[in-house]
Amino acid sequence: MPVARIVTEHEADEIAAALHAEMPWMALATEAVWHGLRASAREGLSGFRFSPLVLVGSPGIGKSHWARRLAHHLAVPTTMIDATGEPAAFGIVGSQRGWFNATPGKLLQTILRERHGGPLVIVDEVEKSGDIHSSKGTRHALTDALLPLLERMTAATWECPFFQIKCDMSWVNWVMTANSRQGLPEPLQSRCAVLELPDLTPDQLRHFAKKEGARRDLPAPAMAALMDVFDCGAIINSGLSLRTVSRMLDRAQTLACQPMLN
Ligand SMILES: Nc1ncnc2c1ncn2[C@@H]1O[C@H](COP(=O)(O)OP(=O)(O)O)[C@@H](O)[C@H]1O
Ligand SMILES: [Mg+2]
Repeated sequence: MPVARIVTEHEADEIAAALHAEMPWMALATEAVWHGLRASAREGLSGFRFSPLVLVGSPGIGKSHWARRLAHHLAVPTTMIDATGEPAAFGIVGSQRGWFNATPGKLLQTILRERHGGPLVIVDEVEKSGDIHSSKGTRHALTDALLPLLERMTAATWECPFFQIKCDMSWVNWVMTANSRQGLPEPLQSRCAVLELPDLTPDQLRHFAKKEGARRDLPAPAMAALMDVFDCGAIINSGLSLRTVSRMLDRAQTLACQPMLN
């Protein structure tokens, strides 16, 4: 399978700059990727890798969105896994042939479907995945499934439990998200770059609302009403996030598109 490559450090700079311009509050994460991409180019690797990331931050600051935008700029396919879904471990790596409902995991399915050896795996809310106990009493925690994939040496000779063949997964990159450090398994923390991301400042939220409003072509009165919300200072302690601002934009858009009733 082909993997995507970054040939020059300049290319890495451009990707990081584009991502940073879109979401400056995610600077810590963008910087970590940037260093990995530059190193991959410098060392002339046949693909690129950055250390597996765990993005820790409040809900709604755009962690998942950032990961999707990263994949977009890197031009690699993604597979998203919600760790709160019960069999998240099976979801990623698949289960042994012969088991009830056995399938290959989402990771290998993505590689085969996209014909690309280096997708970005996004694991959402990784701190919330609990242990699963099968009828045979085996533990299949998400962490157990992830650990061999997160380390380059073991990832290079990873064996798919379903097809029972060795696959080189060392070009797969990982972004996990968590709302807090609490519940993050220690072995995961020690193998990943755990980055604590700040909440957006009121100014950053305002800027986001303005930019998104313009992108959605909101009429001027709707934009003015929205900006009033930011300017009256009420938002400082209101716990607004990108998610709530997105919803406000949705509502403004719906109102703006409603036919006039006479
Ligand atoms: N840069 C952005 N541009 C447009 N929408 C965004 C952006 N960042 C986040 N959003 C939207 O804000 C909401 C929250 O983002 P999300 O990535 O789900 O946050 P988190 O994963 O941190 O909880 C989503 O609906 C997402 O589509
Ligand atoms: Mg999320």
